Amino acid sequence: MNVFGVDIGGSGIKGAPVDLDRGDLAEPRHKVLTPHPATPDGVLEGVVEVVEHFGWSGPIGVTFPGVVTGSVIRTAANVDKSWVDVDGGSLIGDRLGMPVTVMNDADAAGVAEMTFGAGRGRKGVVMLLTFGTGIGSALFHDGALVPNTEFGHLELNGHDAEKKASSKAKEDEDLSYHHWATHRVQKYLAHLEMLFSPELFIIGGGVSRKADKFLHYIEGIRAEIVPAQLQNNAGIVGAAMTASQQ
Ligand code: BGC
Repeated sequence: MNVFGVDIGGSGIKGAPVDLDRGDLAEPRHKVLTPHPATPDGVLEGVVEVVEHFGWSGPIGVTFPGVVTGSVIRTAANVDKSWVDVDGGSLIGDRLGMPVTVMNDADAAGVAEMTFGAGRGRKGVVMLLTFGTGIGSALFHDGALVPNTEFGHLELNGHDAEKKASSKAKEDEDLSYHHWATHRVQKYLAHLEMLFSPELFIIGGGVSRKADKFLHYIEGIRAEIVPAQLQNNAGIVGAAMTASQQ
């Protein structure tokens, strides 16, 4: 069975029909640039363009880079603040005339990784972290998601953690992989380990493709640390999986 998945990110809005049996895209994804400012109306147009590109009709799962309760957006750290309190499911669903499920982007990526990727079959506490413009988190216990954990906004050395340990922070401050991994990511993981004692950290987001450049620098963490496997498509797949269960 196929369900459509859309991933709303700070730079791009990407989507494709997802083959739920394989946990992979059924067709190559289509991407449009996220408008700036990333207001609800502008982003809506991007989502519509992506869905119409495939002539899709049917259920749609959409990720959003903020807290989502029900289908209402509650926070917008890296997109336009006018999203707060918007019912994203109704906004997109009414425009397209199709059922739309909205969820946090890292939660969607985590759902996909737990079924088809690095977390498959893993019990106990598993934490997926996405390192990108911000830091997203998804927490699982025995495979069950605790949604909207927002660990990217924990305090780290007196700062919002994502401002120091995201891959955007690495780029903005022109940090080497070694410096970023040992001074930022390792400290952040140690803090999370102190609080939650996960068995496994799954490192997602764009940097998961470059895991061989920095994961080996990270020391002193008891939990196993592995890169995500679905990489950039995890959000699309996880959103479609969740929409299929609504
Ligand atoms: C947001 C999270 C999101 C993460 C990754 C953070 O700034 O608060 O909701 O999952 O960025 O996009």
